[in-house]
Amino acid sequence: MSNLFEIKGLKSEIEGKEILKGFDLTIKAGEVHAIMGPNGTGKSTLASSIMGHPKYEVTEGQVFLNGEDVLEMGVDERALAGLFLAMQYPSEITGVTNADFLRSAINARRGEGNEISLIKFVRQMEGKMKELEMNPEFMHRYLNEGFSGGEKKRNEILQMMLLEPKLVILDEIDSGLDIDALKIVAAGVNAMRSEERSFLIITHYQRLLNYIKPDHVHVMMQGRIVRSGGPELAERLEAEGYEWIKEELGIVDETVGQA
Ligand SMILES: Nc1ncnc2c1ncn2[C@@H]1O[C@H](COP(=O)(O)OP(=O)(O)O)[C@@H](O)[C@H]1O
Ligand SMILES: [Mg+2]
Repeated sequence: MSNLFEIKGLKSEIEGKEILKGFDLTIKAGEVHAIMGPNGTGKSTLASSIMGHPKYEVTEGQVFLNGEDVLEMGVDERALAGLFLAMQYPSEITGVTNADFLRSAINARRGEGNEISLIKFVRQMEGKMKELEMNPEFMHRYLNEGFSGGEKKRNEILQMMLLEPKLVILDEIDSGLDIDALKIVAAGVNAMRSEERSFLIITHYQRLLNYIKPDHVHVMMQGRIVRSGGPELAERLEAEGYEWIKEELGIVDETVGQA
């Protein structure tokens, strides 16, 4: 299996405060990796830095998608290259309907002259919404506006299913979901697993990993990966929390910047 995604020595700061402190990770094509870690360790910072969010300044390191230098790309180019982030807190965009937003995103991927027909698009969107048990009215609602937490999360998965990215980052997709919604979202993710697509699943809780089985589990603390293992690592975290790792590492407080 080839390396689909590589992060090497990534350092990133926000408002002059270094959050990522040399982050390394290699994901092979088809693999599912989970990142777990206490609040404030930089998980969302990692996701946003990969996507090129302007608030985060990458000061060192490299990111490659299928060997292509991601940090050299603009934000739009990263999405076009096949990076996708389901955000922890998806933003609301008034005036743009869900359908309009998705159709332009799909057409941007397909390129000029190769746009998807309206009928085909509607059929696809309806089909995926059905799989996610979403009310058809969400097609014409403004993007995320007034959506509940759970509806936003389903909508992120809907985008992922229609955009067919190469590397999918899910940032706490399980937060705000009840168990039935969690199962639906997990089924949507599992349906998208393939030998050419990889996933980076950021989660607080092991529960999600009962439904989306990861190949590798990493623990992130203070801006870098401090432990890696298989699914059994997630189970140990669920049972024992993070204290044992902190003790092994001699960390007094998990908050970044206090080491
Ligand atoms: N806009 C911001 N301004 C200043 N500090 C921030 C901002 N966003 C995040 N941080 C800080 O960066 C650190 C990492 O945050 P985050 O990446 O969201 O952690 P996690 O997702 O692991 O909970 C935290 O200490 C947080 O307070
Ligand atoms: Mg976060």
